[in-house]
Amino acid sequence: MQYRSYHNSDPPRLHQLWHACALGRNAAEGFSCDVFELFACSPPYFDRKGLILALDGQRLVGYVHASFAVNATENNLDKTQGIISALMVHPEYRRRKVGTELVRLAEDYLRSSGALTIEAGGGLNRNGFYCGIYGGLEPSGFCGSSAAWKEFLGTCGYVRGKETFVFRRDLLQSRDPVNAKLLRHRRHLNLVITDRPSKETWWWFVRFGHLDSLRFELQEKTNLEVVASGQIIGMDLFIPKWGVRSVGIREIFVPESQRRHGYAQALVLEICRRLRGESVQLVEAHVDSENKAAIDLFTSAKFELNDRLLTFIKTL
Ligand SMILES: CC(C)(COP(=O)(O)OP(=O)(O)OC[C@H]1O[C@@H](n2cnc3c(N)ncnc32)[C@H](O)[C@@H]1OP(=O)(O)O)[C@@H](O)C(=O)NCCC(=O)NCCS
Repeated sequence: MQYRSYHNSDPPRLHQLWHACALGRNAAEGFSCDVFELFACSPPYFDRKGLILALDGQRLVGYVHASFAVNATENNLDKTQGIISALMVHPEYRRRKVGTELVRLAEDYLRSSGALTIEAGGGLNRNGFYCGIYGGLEPSGFCGSSAAWKEFLGTCGYVRGKETFVFRRDLLQSRDPVNAKLLRHRRHLNLVITDRPSKETWWWFVRFGHLDSLRFELQEKTNLEVVASGQIIGMDLFIPKWGVRSVGIREIFVPESQRRHGYAQALVLEICRRLRGESVQLVEAHVDSENKAAIDLFTSAKFELNDRLLTFIKTL
């Protein structure tokens, strides 16, 4: 087995390996090699030394992609926080320590670049690669059901990190809840839709800039005060795999002074209503498993917990 860094001619083989690895429900499939290259190898911080391939002769049998989390202001990478963005081994080559060696090489690369910790799987809003083709709405972690992550990464010295809940709602199967508060909000509030988020950070643009997006705001009719905002991201690259049009909702925000009035629920339901009218069937949201307010919000809007995306941590 040989291990080496990425070459410019590798994407077709990487794209083929992706489709041969049975990466689970949360990995898009059926997209072109150009799309793979766009989301895996084109972000401005891509470093060929961080993408390490395992080859048996000429055959590509596995790869790991090591990268970094973003800094607090989201305008650059924080090289003290390493990430393992992707890792896969061809099914015919599993249980031969290929994965273990790939992780070791990724750790060497991250350590030599200044990393103090590594989070395998990335985490909510932290993985700089594969937005649009892994995880669903975003690659918030490795899909818990697609591999024996706990056992495998445990043997590599990692402990359980964060868990992200994937909430989904099938708009054709479920009816919107109705109550007096929601009806009152509909009379007093305007929904404003802007075609592209504008105040987003560099980190947002490098990850979501290639995908369709819209920003939604609920405004008081009387004084135009914004009481809730959020955005949606198109998940069209999942259509070949899931067979339905899907959209992700993210960054739902209600100003502190406006909380506990049902504005967030009103906004999420209004977004769902609009999307249903646009023939979108599935709506998805990613929520930190410790964020009770957000869990309650999406549950109240008839979303169901469908998947868990996991991360694993190691201190170097
Ligand atoms: C997780 C994965 C990378 C492991 O690769 P691998 O080369 O088979 O792993 P290794 O041979 O190095 O395993 C080392 C140890 O981990 C543990 N382990 C690995 N796979 C395991 C499994 N399926 N069940 C239980 N333990 C397992 C074992 O302790 C193993 O040692 P052993 O074989 O001597 O018992 C591989 O299963 C895979 O590619 N899965 C899909 C990945 C995926 O979904 N990626 C998506 C994110 S981009």
